[in-house]
Amino acid sequence: MKIVGISASPRGADSRTARLVAAVLEGAASAGAETEFIDICRMRFEFCTGCGTCYATGECPRVDDFSRLFETMVGADGLVLGSPNYINGPTAQLKQVLDRMADAIHCRAFDGKYGCAVCTTGGSGDDRVVEYLSGVLNNLGAQFVGGVGVALGADPGRLSGALLQGEALGRDLAEAIATRRQYPDQIAALEASREYFRALVTANRDIWAHEYEVWADRGWL
Ligand SMILES: Cc1cc2nc3c(=O)[nH]c(=O)nc-3n(C[C@H](O)[C@H](O)[C@H](O)COP(=O)(O)O)c2cc1C
Repeated sequence: MKIVGISASPRGADSRTARLVAAVLEGAASAGAETEFIDICRMRFEFCTGCGTCYATGECPRVDDFSRLFETMVGADGLVLGSPNYINGPTAQLKQVLDRMADAIHCRAFDGKYGCAVCTTGGSGDDRVVEYLSGVLNNLGAQFVGGVGVALGADPGRLSGALLQGEALGRDLAEAIATRRQYPDQIAALEASREYFRALVTANRDIWAHEYEVWADRGWL
């Protein structure tokens, strides 16, 4: 079982979010998972230009670290998405990466995977970021196990409690993967969105040849 943790704070070793992601990975490792921590702010990504090439060919014309990161994510059974709250959303660095995944969303690239999300913030908004990231995981076809958000502005000492919660979340993520846990509400929502994308990909099959082929190969049409 492989679990990849992504930290999207640009503050490197000073990042509290990075520590929270690492705590989730420690919990997962204690439950038997192989883990990998990735600081996306040490990688180089171009913006999505909305050209649609990925829909048609499965390839992005941008030359950067995205395909390396994406292959690592697709190779994992579980994903931890971690970001500080920047104006009630994830950091621009993480959004830049997520925007490169429109084709992955159409193709439900994380089907069968599990994920969780963590956020640190100054005073508020951590819950909004966790909710946003959980929605992204569902968009990609994964089931969401849970999240940890913590506001550290008034009392930075709250991080220690959040790290313990993070470790518990990591253990739970590993257990969800090991037992192939099913969340009935999410399964129903994933099935509804599968119907939506089946219709979308079929309607656009002439221009989105790659996506139609992926759906056909998986026997989803
Ligand atoms: C550009 C920027 C935007 C921020 N926006 C918010 C915000 O909207 N609400 C809030 O409570 N804290 C906000 N913060 C504070 C960070 O969310 C908080 O310090 C966080 O713990 C930083 O995480 P890090 O240590 O992993 O970098 C912001 C910080 C920065 C630099």
